[in-house]
Amino acid sequence: MNKFLKISTLLCIIFSSAFIFNACNKTNDNEILIGEYASLTGSEATFGQSSHNGLELAVEEINSTGGILGKQVKLITEDNQGKPSETQTVVQKLINRDKVVAIIGEVASSRSKAGAPICQAAKIPMITPASTNPEVTTIGDYIFRVCFIDPFQATVMSKFAINSMKVTKVALLVDQKNAYSTGLADNFKQIFTGMGGEILDEQKYSAGDKDFKAQLTSIKAKNPEAIFIPGYYTDVNLISIQAREIGLTCPLFGSDGWESEKLTEGKAKDALEGSFFSTHVSTDDPSPKIQEYIKKYKAKYNKEPDAMSFLAYDAGMILFDAIKKAGNTEGVNIKNELAKTKDYPGITGVITINEDRNAIKPAVVLEVKDGKFVYKETIAP
Ligand code: PHE
Repeated sequence: MNKFLKISTLLCIIFSSAFIFNACNKTNDNEILIGEYASLTGSEATFGQSSHNGLELAVEEINSTGGILGKQVKLITEDNQGKPSETQTVVQKLINRDKVVAIIGEVASSRSKAGAPICQAAKIPMITPASTNPEVTTIGDYIFRVCFIDPFQATVMSKFAINSMKVTKVALLVDQKNAYSTGLADNFKQIFTGMGGEILDEQKYSAGDKDFKAQLTSIKAKNPEAIFIPGYYTDVNLISIQAREIGLTCPLFGSDGWESEKLTEGKAKDALEGSFFSTHVSTDDPSPKIQEYIKKYKAKYNKEPDAMSFLAYDAGMILFDAIKKAGNTEGVNIKNELAKTKDYPGITGVITINEDRNAIKPAVVLEVKDGKFVYKETIAP
């Protein structure tokens, strides 16, 4: 074979293998792929739908201003149906098949705890918008959150009960297989009793239960001034109705897991009147950033945003900012930039990521009034 033929054969092999490689690898050079896992269906579907809407708004906004590093952001969303096992499957898929460079997810702590070890092992940065259980970010240095954690949320509700409501005798009703619920209940017991409060009874349920009368009857016999229920909205809706049916009239106190338009559906609208819960944002907040976001959200989705949507928007924006600063999409560089996030002007407040990869932010307490959530007070960290 002459020299020319040898070179042209070699070039041919190089070009065709490059072609085959590109054809197999779906990534488009003009796009940055971001993964999202969320409960778009299942018993906490509004959590996933709201966070997805918020993230989608962030993606649209960054793309309309030219994207990041000259590329458009493409969001690949997977529904985990609200299940930890399905979470593992979809997170593997996002990383191994779709080759995303970072992941946003989830709202519920138990699902974030299922997805985080996979992201950590693959060195793919993960930001949970709304998981408040402290253990989520201890999984590793690639795992971040843009919200406060539950020991603070427990402090907020303890202070609110004792200082604002003059309530010192409380019963607890806890979702026993939900890390968020049991963790927050433990934090509350410690902090509330430390402030001079008394826990008169502690009852358990499992998410998806339909009959809470036995637990509520036990609680009623102790005559508490309030019942603290750190659970998710689907169960709290039923619990509130059954509490009133057996003649329990005291207010119910809760936490961010209550936040959904479905909390007050049906008879729960009356059952929850005058009850309170802590969460991340109030749509009553007059801050221009919040009101501007509400306007944009309503224009696109034709409804009011809730906390998850605000937080997912911020999670997306912080991620885009970190990729921009990293200058490339290497996991380790994105992670290093996320860790340096300081005084980022988010819509949910100024966000600084601390050494435990958590955000330190104030919380708000909302009151249920006529089926709506009305701002009551803000409690600073
Ligand atoms: N904080 C809850 C959890 O960790 C999830 C949640 C956040 C729910 C915000 C509603 C609003 O499980």
